[in-house]
Amino acid sequence: MAFPTRVYLNGKFIPSESARISVFDRGFVFGDGVYEVIPVYGGRPFRLSHHLQRLDASLAAVRISNPMTAREWEDIFRELAGEHGSVDQSIYLELTRGVAPRDHAFPAGIAATVFAYAQPLSYPDPEHIEAGVRAITVPDIRWSRCDIKAIALLANVLMRQKAIENGCAEAILIRDDRVTEGAASNIFIVSGGVLSTPGKGPYILPGITRDLVIELAHRNNIPCVEREIRRPELFSADEVWLTSSTKEILPIVRIDDRDIGMGRPGPMHSRLQAFYQDYKHAFRNGEVE
Ligand code: PDD
Repeated sequence: MAFPTRVYLNGKFIPSESARISVFDRGFVFGDGVYEVIPVYGGRPFRLSHHLQRLDASLAAVRISNPMTAREWEDIFRELAGEHGSVDQSIYLELTRGVAPRDHAFPAGIAATVFAYAQPLSYPDPEHIEAGVRAITVPDIRWSRCDIKAIALLANVLMRQKAIENGCAEAILIRDDRVTEGAASNIFIVSGGVLSTPGKGPYILPGITRDLVIELAHRNNIPCVEREIRRPELFSADEVWLTSSTKEILPIVRIDDRDIGMGRPGPMHSRLQAFYQDYKHAFRNGEVE
């Protein structure tokens, strides 16, 4: 994937070649920052208020104050997105605590570093939606504040890489024999016509796509529960999916070399996929947020 031509950095829209941050930025030195990934459809950031609420929660958790209003964020995102016209995009936004001599404790009186860019959204391969993807289970080696969308993603990087090296698209993370989420996604299972996904808490990121899938299920009278999912339930499920802003709803058809259900995407996936695409369509027409 190519670099974007233009980025937003600390109040300015500038060519990405001239964007510079200090080597003493605490994001670089400590991974001391948070981020968001927001799809843009038809020039409008999708589920923006939900993303901004999660950003507020992440910032509050790490005690960085939000330097912008919702309106200011929206203006920045629209300006970045405008560059690509009508092409669907994703916005990457990162805030770090700022620049200071290295010391773990918070420095006084510094401004957050704010960095954002838009790039064309790379959708999952239609073949992957059609045929499903493979996953492996791995122990969830992360800390106990996975609800914060922190830029420190070393554990996620290692777990995803292990999946790739095993010919899989995603790693499903297991903590105390329970599914938490994917390395960069949330997980749903379907058993006997009921959708289940792990409940929110300190061990999962509260995914915006996850919430929308739950909302769409409820709206269409499909039973959906938030509950603990034990590892063996993955293998006895009729369907398993991952969800994220960039992957949407992707069926997982094989886990640890065992077929899930019939080893191909199931009928519940087709239904939710259709509801999700209808929702996006309505969003593009300005009918929903
Ligand atoms: N990741 N869980 C984790 C650990 C994630 O990193 C993500 C998304 C999700 C899904 O959240 P959402 O539905 O809000 O995208 C769950 C983004 C896409 C990323 O890091 O690129």
